[in-house]
Amino acid sequence: MDDRLITQESIGEEEQLDNGIRPLSFTEYIGQEKVKENLKVFIEAAKMREESLDHVLLYGPPGLGKTTLAMIIASEMKVNLRTTSGPAIERPGDLAAILTALEPGDVLFIDEIHRLPRAVEEVLYPAMEDFCIDIVIGKESTARSVRLDLPPFTLVGATTRAGMLSSPLRDRFGVMSRLEYYTENELSAILHRSGELLGVEMEDEAALEMARRARGTPRIANRLLRRVRDFAQVQGNGFVTEELSIEALERLQVDRLGLDDVDHRLLQTIIEKFKGGPVGLENMAATIGEEANTIEDVYEPYLLQIGFLQRTPRGRVVTPHVYQHFGLEVPK
Ligand SMILES: Nc1ncnc2c1ncn2[C@@H]1O[C@H](COP(=O)(O)OP(=O)(O)O)[C@@H](O)[C@H]1O
Ligand SMILES: [Mg+2]
Repeated sequence: MDDRLITQESIGEEEQLDNGIRPLSFTEYIGQEKVKENLKVFIEAAKMREESLDHVLLYGPPGLGKTTLAMIIASEMKVNLRTTSGPAIERPGDLAAILTALEPGDVLFIDEIHRLPRAVEEVLYPAMEDFCIDIVIGKESTARSVRLDLPPFTLVGATTRAGMLSSPLRDRFGVMSRLEYYTENELSAILHRSGELLGVEMEDEAALEMARRARGTPRIANRLLRRVRDFAQVQGNGFVTEELSIEALERLQVDRLGLDDVDHRLLQTIIEKFKGGPVGLENMAATIGEEANTIEDVYEPYLLQIGFLQRTPRGRVVTPHVYQHFGLEVPK
């Protein structure tokens, strides 16, 4: 089979870098207590029954630990993890090749599962439900459909947009877990853990400062830590003090709520060009020169979460908090 489909394609450069600090077990995976406790029970039960784990859908904003959880699930089930992504599987035959190569109990992880082409998705239905696929062999008048049995397996799907999944696909997941933004204390614990693994020492206050500016997101916390470490190495003796972390974060233009240059442009554009909104997503994206998808997946969820943006039927609106944050007068 074509091995490219099952590579780490969906795992970007930064995540590769991250591999040294990625939690490998539930014990190392900080936070998301409800999700973790439930998964532990389902895994334990499946193991007791000697069955494959039911299919799991993980959803939530980028960087909250979906890929990491998929890896942990496979490792706790003591099975292989096969990784691919929605956009990487172009044709039904691609998916058939992946599925028929699975071993009993394997975890197949499909990242960005909302981007699976429709025809591919249809192959997945009987595979998930009855562990079989129908393939067509021969051409035109001699074509016939053959049913192939698959080994029992667990599909772990990840998506930033559960709403974009078709309902037949969504209905076939026995477990649906939504990952939440992390608290400052959880992020601070994650930073201390990453610091130990990277050999960076820091003050508690420094960890909290980075945690506060990490938008509830472990990936961002770890990214800030790496940059702050650079400043600590070049400007100090490598030890990350509170003062140094604040100075570094200011220089990185990450404000005290973790908002960066793109967030600032987005919010300021709504205020200055659209009188605070409402403004449609496409219109806003075009004005600041970002992809509408990126805004919707990466920027907006956090701004909605902290109450800076509101979605109305007519578009996005900024709230009074935004004016206060920028030291502007709140319009009447
Ligand atoms: N619960 C957690 N505890 C500690 N580190 C975490 C946790 N969740 C995520 N991380 C860190 O954040 C990075 C991004 O997580 P990842 O699983 O790739 O997110 P997603 O797939 O949801 O975009 C990981 O490489 C890992 O180092
Ligand atoms: Mg991921």
